[in-house]
Formats: sequence, C-alpha cells, structure tokens
Amino acid sequence: MSAVLNNAPSFRPMCLDDLDKVMASELKIYSHPWTFGNFRDSLNAGYSCWIYEYGESLIGYGLVMLAAGEAHLLNVGIAKEWQRQGMGRKLMQHLIKVSREYQAEFMFLEVRPSNIPAIRLYEDIGFNEMAIRKNYYPAHGGREDAVLMGMTL
Ligand SMILES: CC(C)(COP(=O)(O)OP(=O)(O)OC[C@H]1O[C@@H](n2cnc3c(N)ncnc32)[C@H](O)[C@@H]1OP(=O)(O)O)[C@@H](O)C(=O)NCCC(=O)NCCS
Repeated sequence: MSAVLNNAPSFRPMCLDDLDKVMASELKIYSHPWTFGNFRDSLNAGYSCWIYEYGESLIGYGLVMLAAGEAHLLNVGIAKEWQRQGMGRKLMQHLIKVSREYQAEFMFLEVRPSNIPAIRLYEDIGFNEMAIRKNYYPAHGGREDAVLMGMTL
C-alpha cells in the first residue's frame, strides 16, 4: 500500500526524533546556528516546539517559551527550499495562535538588525521594535546587537 500524502502542509509538536532533520536545516539557514543540545534542552524544558511539514519534507520549525502570560519566540526557521512561499508567515501565525490559546497576552523576540527578511516578516505581522539589546549575538569578528520586538496578542 502506498503512503497517503496529506494534501496540505501541517503542524505537529516536535519530538527528539525530529532533531537530526531540524539540525540539517538549521545549519543551512543560520550563520550562527543553534546546537542539537539547544533544541534537546528546549524539548526537555517543555517549551512549545513545533514542526511544520508536508509529507516527509520539513518546511520549518518554531519554538516558543510560554510563561507568566508572555510568549518568547526562541527560534523560527523555514528550510531553504521552502523560503519565500508564505510559509514563514503561516508558521508565525500558528505560533501566535498557540500562544493565545495558552492565554499569553504579549509575544516578544530578538532578531539581528542585519536579518532584514525576518524583520520585514515580523513587522508585517504586527511586531514593533521595543529596544536594542547591546552585543547580544555572537558575530563574525565580534558581537552584534539584537533588536527586541514585541506584539500584543
Ligand atoms: C525569516 C524567515 C523565517 C522567513 O520565512 P519565509 O517563509 O521565507 O517568509 P514568507 O515567504 O512567509 O514571507 C513573509 C514576508 O516576510 C518578508 N520576507 C521574507 N523573506 C524576505 C526576503 N528575503 N527579503 C525581504 N523580505 C522578506 C516579506 O515581507 C514577506 O512578505 P511578502 O512575501 O508579501 O513580500 C526565513 O527567511 C528563514 O527561515 N530565515 C533563516 C532563519 C531566520 O533568520 N529566522 C529568524 C530568526 S530571528
């Protein structure tokens, strides 16, 4: 019997078995990727960790820490071959929906000022710049600031 392919991309909670695939994508899309341990620790901590997929193909993933009425977006990525097809927007909408269901009232995130695609996406969805976190990220040859962005849910 042949496997039936869902006719639409879908979301499901991430599990440990996903991490090899997630890491393969992470290494391709980030200059400073998370480690396998970062993802494993997030799963073990009980954060809200999601896989976005189409059949066997990993479209993307997103991780949110939900606590005290706030949602902190920890990582969001769309696999290289799925980028610029509206998938990042759909993934963000899913993470916002999950956060609202958890009764979170505010969502925030950090992003590199050089990451124009991500900043455009966040602004488009309704995030606003709140502050600059100095020397937040490792960068080639030093550190890079983070833009702190937030949105009322
Ligand atoms: C940022 C990221 C998640 C966007 O995902 P995506 O699926 O390519 O984005 P979408 O196709 O849903 O685009 C939504 C909007 O984002 C903006 N955007 C996305 N890619 C862009 C690019 N390369 N240049 C400019 N704007 C871009 C646009 O406003 C776009 O709307 P439009 O298509 O109407 O112009 C993806 O580029 C990615 O995974 N990057 C690497 C990981 C990363 O940087 N994560 C964020 C860390 S803070």
